[in-house]
Amino acid sequence: MAKKIIIDCDPGQDDAVALLLAFASPDELELLGITTVCGNVPLALTQRNARMICDIGGQQHVPVFAGCAEPLQRKLQTAEAIHGPTGINGIDVFEPQTPLQNKHAADFIIDTLLAADAASITLVPTGPLTNIATAINKEPAILSRIERIVLMGGAMREGGNCTPSAEFNIFVDPQAADIVFRCGRPITAMGLDVTHQVLSTRDRVARIRALGNAVAIATADMLSFFDRYDTLKYASEGAPLHDPCTIAWLLRPDLFVARDCNISIETQSELTMGHTAIDFWHVTDRPANATWIYGVDAPGFYEFLISRLARFGRSA
Ligand code: RIB
Ligand code: CA
Repeated sequence: MAKKIIIDCDPGQDDAVALLLAFASPDELELLGITTVCGNVPLALTQRNARMICDIGGQQHVPVFAGCAEPLQRKLQTAEAIHGPTGINGIDVFEPQTPLQNKHAADFIIDTLLAADAASITLVPTGPLTNIATAINKEPAILSRIERIVLMGGAMREGGNCTPSAEFNIFVDPQAADIVFRCGRPITAMGLDVTHQVLSTRDRVARIRALGNAVAIATADMLSFFDRYDTLKYASEGAPLHDPCTIAWLLRPDLFVARDCNISIETQSELTMGHTAIDFWHVTDRPANATWIYGVDAPGFYEFLISRLARFGRSA
């Protein structure tokens, strides 16, 4: 039976590829809804971008919700330098057919989970955790309905990508991340240590483009824009495909290497705000609250991603 999921995102080119990978996997994943949050760009753009991707992926029936426009306590910091002013540069912006639902994203999460069986819905946040924390704060009873939270966020050996200590999703809303990592439900965390291993190199982008269907071409166009910042910053061969790692782990966990450990969030020091203190070697008695993903078969990841993107070109 397909796993019921809600994707909470801040598109963002890499969020967009995560959505497309989920769209291409209906036998394994039942996408109940897409909730959007401020992050890479302001909420007005992340919700519009999510609806554009639903149009591109032929998924106009998937309900899309707008959530929090600001972090719980801190001032929003966005990432137009990486994603472009539209948040989805690489493809032309258009007014999507996919409608925006009236309900707040946190209320959709609450209503959906309260109506669900115990441990039956997987949350897949790929942006700041503000919507998830807001839903937990507003209605703690949802926790028992969460099967697992599979999130993109954090960093260990890789260091931070927006401060020396912190990865963007956690840095934007450390208080929200602290609530999520303390919530007591199973968590799988994909940080920069693994996402920086899945680089969208020119060869890989060319192979995606060669698929020839509209979704693959849009994906190649987005990645061709998205990679310019990271290739300069890290002198890498392409941009890390952060967010699709969450969906790929749900579909092919065999591609990844994991370790259960404690992950705690810095919420006091401005110097290290949003740092994920990952007790990889179990040097403290802090209980393991997450499965930390730190390795991946990168060629296998791209073979899998390409095989799923190829599905958009096949007639139903
Ligand atoms: O640090 C990378 C993360 O921040 C990704 O989710 C990217 O989309 C941005 O949200
Ligand atoms: Ca994201």
